[in-house]
Amino acid sequence: MNAHEMRALPRSGLKLTALGLGCSQLGGLYRPMSSADARALVDAAWSAGVRYFDTAPYYGYTLSERRVGHALALRERDAFTLSSKVGRLMRPDASVRPGDDGWAEPLPFRPVFDYSYSGVMRSYEDSQQRLGTSRIDILYVHDIGAMTHGDRHPHFWDQLVAGGGLRALAELRQSGEVRAIGLGVNEWEIAVDAMNEAPLDAILLAGRYTLLEQTALQPLLDHCARVGTAIVAGGVFNSGVLAGNGKFNYADAPAEVVKKVQRLSALCERFDVPLPAAALQFPFAHPAVVSCVVGARSVAQLQQNIAWLEQHVPADFWAALSNEGLIAANAPVPEGGA
Ligand SMILES: NC(=O)c1ccc[n+]([C@@H]2O[C@H](COP(=O)([O-])OP(=O)(O)OC[C@H]3O[C@@H](n4cnc5c(N)ncnc54)[C@H](OP(=O)(O)O)[C@@H]3O)[C@@H](O)[C@H]2O)c1
Repeated sequence: MNAHEMRALPRSGLKLTALGLGCSQLGGLYRPMSSADARALVDAAWSAGVRYFDTAPYYGYTLSERRVGHALALRERDAFTLSSKVGRLMRPDASVRPGDDGWAEPLPFRPVFDYSYSGVMRSYEDSQQRLGTSRIDILYVHDIGAMTHGDRHPHFWDQLVAGGGLRALAELRQSGEVRAIGLGVNEWEIAVDAMNEAPLDAILLAGRYTLLEQTALQPLLDHCARVGTAIVAGGVFNSGVLAGNGKFNYADAPAEVVKKVQRLSALCERFDVPLPAAALQFPFAHPAVVSCVVGARSVAQLQQNIAWLEQHVPADFWAALSNEGLIAANAPVPEGGA
């Protein structure tokens, strides 16, 4: 697998590089990132052949979109693919403080959920302005679902389905303004529900199809493969524990996760395979997975991630991973080499 390999979304024909740059870190997730470092990261991704960039209005309360737009401004627009998200309108708010929602240096805008027709259209137009482009290739509905909204989920689901949010996306897709529509979520259940409401081109599924959990396999991924909905795998390190930072789902990893990581690490040591390399390569074995968007904190992390993705991992390792029950019995594994 080469990071710069182009892979098509079956329903739209849009192509993504196997590795996409996840840009929540450019919004200062937990720790600040300077503008110069953000620029250097996007430039390094470009030099390595990465041509897919994922951002959202929420990341850094608009900071990530501004930085991504600025960093890509002089690039040929047809040469890269950009995804952003809808569902939160960013309202000016002088009370925003460093650390709000985990953003180290948020800009003074506060998110207000809105999945309605007008909310989606407004969000899309605001993103175009911040990104400095007339074209956003993929629009994902961001964080719809009970995990984010709890008791309020039925209200926001109603906005999306009956209130016209999905219709707005379908219109943008139909007119050719955006090339692909879908969901960007941390829970697979809501993606199944959404696919019952409308045909989706892509689902950015974060943290739910990784070496640590494959619960999304049969209900979602296999169905996506059948109907041609692409999976863009996000959070393949489960926010970092599989790359060594101790975080799982953006919090300190609980004991059972640490134990599972230790078992995976022991297997990796036996075969002399870096755990993050296995974590990056594993999702690609599923036919629905088109691209992995990986968040990097620095140019060094990005380059390491490319090396991990492209590293040879022997077939015996993948066989042992299955045979020793470390992943679901029916989860496909990469073919690997001899
Ligand atoms: N709902 C959604 O649509 C949704 C949800 C989540 C993610 N996403 C997208 O998916 C992208 C990736 O997800 P994610 O960043 O949350 O999770 P992730 O890719 O699983 O983890 C990223 C973290 O792993 C660590 N890491 C990465 N490369 C490393 C390396 N080479 N060496 C050591 N540590 C390394 C870094 O942790 P440290 O920062 O601690 O160094 C980094 O912040 C996001 O940027 C976003 O674009 C979308």
